[in-house]
Amino acid sequence: MNATILPEKKEHYPVLLNEIVSIITPQYGGTFIDCTFGQGGYTKKILEYSKSKVIAIDRDNDSKNISLKIKKIFKERFHFENKKFSQINKLNLKNENIRSIIFDLGYSYTQIKDSKKGLSFDSSGDLNMKMGLNDFSAHDVINKLDQKDLEKIFKFLGDERDGKRIANKIVRNRKSKNISTQDLVKIIESTKKKNFKIHSATKVFQALRIFVNKEISELIYGLINAAKILKPGGIILVVTFHSLEDKIVKFFFKSLSENQSISRYMPKTNEKDKLFKLINKKPIIPSNEEIKKNPPSRSAKLRYAIKEKDVDNFEKGILEKFNYLLEIENLSNKI
Ligand SMILES: C[S@@+](CC[C@H](N)C(=O)[O-])C[C@H]1O[C@@H](n2cnc3c(N)ncnc32)[C@H](O)[C@@H]1O
Repeated sequence: MNATILPEKKEHYPVLLNEIVSIITPQYGGTFIDCTFGQGGYTKKILEYSKSKVIAIDRDNDSKNISLKIKKIFKERFHFENKKFSQINKLNLKNENIRSIIFDLGYSYTQIKDSKKGLSFDSSGDLNMKMGLNDFSAHDVINKLDQKDLEKIFKFLGDERDGKRIANKIVRNRKSKNISTQDLVKIIESTKKKNFKIHSATKVFQALRIFVNKEISELIYGLINAAKILKPGGIILVVTFHSLEDKIVKFFFKSLSENQSISRYMPKTNEKDKLFKLINKKPIIPSNEEIKKNPPSRSAKLRYAIKEKDVDNFEKGILEKFNYLLEIENLSNKI
């Protein structure tokens, strides 16, 4: 589950905010793209610096109401679009000095607690999981895809070892009725051995959220298009919350910044082919103090890289490396 939530206070908590501000240095002005506006936590902080400007994106139309309040205060220094961040290259950025592009992946506290969105296994009612601008819901996935496809989704997007048995039980159960969120939780609980560390449904729910929101292709094309629109000297920052996201971000930055090839899919690069300069090889993680204030932030990892120069066709390596995941997402064409 996402780490930017603060259960005790029931409000959104912007993860690694101070660390991000110290990397992007908004005090020197320029334009910042907040690809995951959410509750506006990062945006509001950046706008506190009077020479800064923010262009914000969020796929969830509910973010629009918060954006309108910010627009009233900051006027020309703030612009919001209800878009998916894979479409970042469609923004009108003429004459903008883009200094950083920030991604804070996952879901906000408000989204998780919104029972209509049905993102959590605590939700009652129909399966949904749509964050915004989606083509289908979790209900379609669970009630329409065949057993083998469900099994692949659970295995590759959720790392769920019991995916085969769960998929089998789903297909048997759905013959008699449509499966709701709580029906799915019961099916999983009755199939898996009890795990005292995480809820039995965690992995299947992660897989379904990723699949419904096409989070793998969103992330891959978001990163590729961000790297294309950024000028040398600009920074891309990404906060991830689970290992699949982090694996993609780590590969993207490392493979495009190292001289040595880190994968058989990548041609060896030489100095002149480097798209990025990587400052920290290891991710930045929240301090003990932050984790104490907001315990779920313990799974957050921040990686960032500075663009060095434009490189032709740099996206080939990442598209090949993660093609197996993109193919899983394409199973949605059967819905
Ligand atoms: C963790 S929250 C961001 C919180 C924000 N940093 C703050 O401090 O308020 C993630 C947000 O990203 C949005 N989001 C997730 N994937 C997206 C995508 N592909 N395109 C645009 N927005 C996306 C979600 O709707 C959610 O509002």
